[in-house]
Amino acid sequence: MNPTPLRYSRITGTGSFLPPKRLTNEDLVAQLAATGVETSDQWIVERTGIRARHFAAPDVTSSDLAAEAARRALAAANCDAAQIDLIIVATSTPDMVFPSAACMVQEKLGVQGCPAFDVQAVCSGFVYALAIADSMIKTGAASKALVIGAEVFSRILDFKDRTTCVLFGDGAGAVVLEASKEPGILASALHADGRHVDILCTPGTVAGGVVLGNPLLQMDGPAVFKLAVGVLEDVAREVLAKAGRSDADIDWLIPHQANIRIMQSTAKKLKLAMDKVVVTVDRHGNTSAASIPLALDDAVRSGQVKPGDTLMLEGVGGGFTWGAVLLDF
Ligand code: UT7
Repeated sequence: MNPTPLRYSRITGTGSFLPPKRLTNEDLVAQLAATGVETSDQWIVERTGIRARHFAAPDVTSSDLAAEAARRALAAANCDAAQIDLIIVATSTPDMVFPSAACMVQEKLGVQGCPAFDVQAVCSGFVYALAIADSMIKTGAASKALVIGAEVFSRILDFKDRTTCVLFGDGAGAVVLEASKEPGILASALHADGRHVDILCTPGTVAGGVVLGNPLLQMDGPAVFKLAVGVLEDVAREVLAKAGRSDADIDWLIPHQANIRIMQSTAKKLKLAMDKVVVTVDRHGNTSAASIPLALDDAVRSGQVKPGDTLMLEGVGGGFTWGAVLLDF
C-alpha cells in the first residue's frame, strides 16, 4: 500500500482593503477636542507609534471590507471565487448577531455551497483562522480556502475614552490558502486564558430587543501590554521548536499591529532587527483581526516580503488569546 502523500497548505495570494476615510492624529485630536476629550499627536505617537487610521463610512460593514480584500487576494492567486471550498472570516465586529460575516462574504462573491463561518478570537483571530484552515486543508476537508480578517472597530469605540479611542481603525486583509505538496505553513500554536476576559472586552449584549451593559470597547491597556510582551516571545519560540527552526531563520516578523513598543520588545527578545519587522501600525492603527493580513499584503505589494521568505505571524488580544503561525511564503 502506498503511504498517504503528505499534504500541506500554502498562501498563493494576498489582498487587503482600507476604507477611504483616513484620519491623522491631528484630525482625531481636533475631533475629540470639540467634545472636550484631551489628547495629542505627541502622546499617541510616543506611546503607540500610531499616526493615522481609516474609518469606514456608516453604511459600510465588515463583510463589505472583507469581500473587497478577498477579491484582491483571489486576483493575486489567479483563482476564481467559484473554486473556493472554505471561507473563514476572523472578526469581532460582524455585520449582524447572526448569520456570520463569512456567509455574507460568500454571497457578495457570488458563490454558494462551501462551508463559511466566523472565528471570534479578537486580535488573534486571523492567526486562529489561518491555523484552522491549515488543519482543514491537511485533513483533506478543503483545498482552496479564503482566510480573512475584517473589522469596523470604529463602531465599538467610546469616543469619550481617550485611553482606547485613539488606538483602533477599520480594514480587512485576506489570503488564499491552497493545498500543496510543499509547505507552506510549517507550524502553528494557539492559546487562550479566560481568566483575563475583563482586561479587554466589549461586555454589552442584546437581550429582549435592548442593549444590556456597555456595548463599547474597554481595555486595561497596561495589563494587556504586560501580558502581550510575555506571550509573544513564548509562542514564537514554541512554533520555531515545532518546525525545527531557529529565530535566525525568520526573514520577516509580522506581529499584530497594536503598539510599536510591543513589536520592538518582541523583536529584541527574538534577536531580530526592526528592519525584519513589518510595521503598518503607524498608518493603520490597531485593526484587530485585520491587522496581520493587512500588514502581510502591504509587505507583499511593497516588495518587502518575497516568495520563499520565512514569515512569523503573531497575534495577541482579547480573551486573553494569542497564537503564531510560521510559514514559508
Ligand atoms: O489589540 C489587542 C492588544 N492590545 C494591545 O496590545 C494594547 C496594549 N496596551 C498598550 O498599547 C498601552 O498600554 C496603551 C497605548 C494603551 C497605553 O500606554 P501606556 O504607556 O500603558 O499608558 P498608560 O495607560 O499607563 O497611561 C499613561 C498616562 C496616564 O496619565 P497619568 O495617570 O500618568 O497622569 C493616562 O491617563 O497617559 C494618559 N493617557 C493619555 N494621555 C493623552 C492615556 N491615554 C491618553 C491619550 N492622550 N490618548
